[in-house]
Amino acid sequence: MSNDETYNYEVVRQFAVMTVVWGVVGMLVGVLIAAQLIWPELNFGVPWLSYGRLRPLHTNAVIFAFGGSALFATSYYIVQRTCHARLFSDGLAAFTFWGWQAIIVLAAVTLPLGYTSGKEYAELEWPVDLLIAVVWVSYAIVFFGTLYKRRIEHIYVANWFFGAFIITVALLHIVNSAAVPVSFWKSYSAYAGAQDAMIQWWYGHNAVGFFLTAGFLGMMYYFIPKQAGRPVYSYRLSVVHFWALIFTYMWAGPHHLHYTALPDWAQSIGMLFSLILLAPSWGGMINGMMTLSGSWHKLRDDPILKFLVVSLSFYGMSTFEGPMMSIKTVNALSHYTDWTIGHVHSGALGWVGLVSMGSLYYLVPRLFGRNEMYSMRLINVHFWVATVGIVLYIAAMWIAGVMQGLMWRAVSPDGTLTYTFVEGVKATYPFYAIRLLGGVLYFAGMLIMAWNVAKTIAASQPADAHIPAPAHA
Ligand code: HEM
Ligand code: HEM
Repeated sequence: MSNDETYNYEVVRQFAVMTVVWGVVGMLVGVLIAAQLIWPELNFGVPWLSYGRLRPLHTNAVIFAFGGSALFATSYYIVQRTCHARLFSDGLAAFTFWGWQAIIVLAAVTLPLGYTSGKEYAELEWPVDLLIAVVWVSYAIVFFGTLYKRRIEHIYVANWFFGAFIITVALLHIVNSAAVPVSFWKSYSAYAGAQDAMIQWWYGHNAVGFFLTAGFLGMMYYFIPKQAGRPVYSYRLSVVHFWALIFTYMWAGPHHLHYTALPDWAQSIGMLFSLILLAPSWGGMINGMMTLSGSWHKLRDDPILKFLVVSLSFYGMSTFEGPMMSIKTVNALSHYTDWTIGHVHSGALGWVGLVSMGSLYYLVPRLFGRNEMYSMRLINVHFWVATVGIVLYIAAMWIAGVMQGLMWRAVSPDGTLTYTFVEGVKATYPFYAIRLLGGVLYFAGMLIMAWNVAKTIAASQPADAHIPAPAHA
């Protein structure tokens, strides 16, 4: 059988398995730093276990290792299935897998050692940045090469989202990481002062918009219709959703820099575009939700669909909350507080996490030649444990955040601050404990998933599916 008669599932399997592995690692570090905020001694006096070094390890592991592997796996699967074509190059696809894993390992070593460029979500030093650029360009070649050799004329909307995610991340990474090296592990940003901050948060916000959103919307547009057994509610809306979303995201970055040295008009533009962003975000959410109309009953006993649909509700929630937080007067209360952390994790745990998990539960049996996952009951258990975990996490952070904001701005009649900073920290402890409990539950769900995936793979007969013959052959 020639290679071109089957899909390349090998690289999809590899990325799918590593999504689970990095999910466990990244969330374990999340649980550890959540515990350190209650018991700082948990760094055991070891510099590379200190909070300041483990925090970027957590964000890199969950976003780029867990989320990134999920995006590679699903985009490679979806582009092949919707184009009726094998990946453009098996060799280059394998290179993206090994290259991406090497980057993750380099991050896991250099961040605890304290090597950092100091830019949030772009901490890795210049030699790793160069490797990221090479792997990402290879990814673009494999993805767009596959689109080029497609045997289906129409390009399904999920591929538009993945394509925009790939191009934009390349652009963001290359521009924001421009730096002048002074030694092998130290460099300084090519930009200075307010320009540096502006470019960093143009990067940072679009990392949210494209890395944590556009690619995952690609997943949503493929796996929800598949799992629900129904076509997308409105294909026209999905196209409007796509163009409106990618245009608007680009301008919202300054909402991360309210009340800073950034010109006031730039902050206002950031706020305005963030408010506009509510419309395309909700358009997409409603489109996904309405895809279920007529088959809502399936939610009762299909735990995979539960993951996918509830992830969309969290997407809707965090894209409502985000625009509200971008309003300057609201941001004056929320900025620097745990409210931001609550917002981040309603998007990260609720949207990014659940949609990836649901998609993997759909994919894994298909990739490993099984009819379904080893245990459907455990998927259901995972769903409930994770959902309760998210609710505890984000509710605790909202209350803590608003409380901190109010305590910091409270002024006594004589004009002095009512509370010292440390009183705010003391008042936050109970909420840190609730967050830790929520995090442990979410992490436990991830362990259940790892067990279920391992058992499914243990009894598997991996086989690459055949590509259907061209309709006009
Ligand atoms: C078991 C699950 C998790 C736990 C317990 C956890 C815990 C934490 C903690 C304690 C922080 C630091 C907060 C602070 O500095 O005050 C943090 C930050 C962060 N986490 Fe998680 N996390 C988890 C999962 C995730 C996942 C799955 C993602 C993304 C997909 C994620 C993305 C982030 C991001 C982006 C930040 C930085 C937020 C900011 O700077 O505003 N986390 N996490
Ligand atoms: C319409 C959509 C959204 C808007 C307008 C928005 C807006 C905002 C605002 C105003 C902040 C606070 C900035 C600050 O005070 O420092 C923020 C922080 C953040 N948001 Fe969103 N958000 C949106 C959706 C999302 C989603 C879906 C996710 C995750 C998947 C997410 C992840 C984050 C992260 C990681 C941060 C923290 C950045 C940092 O300071 O480290 N956002 N967002």
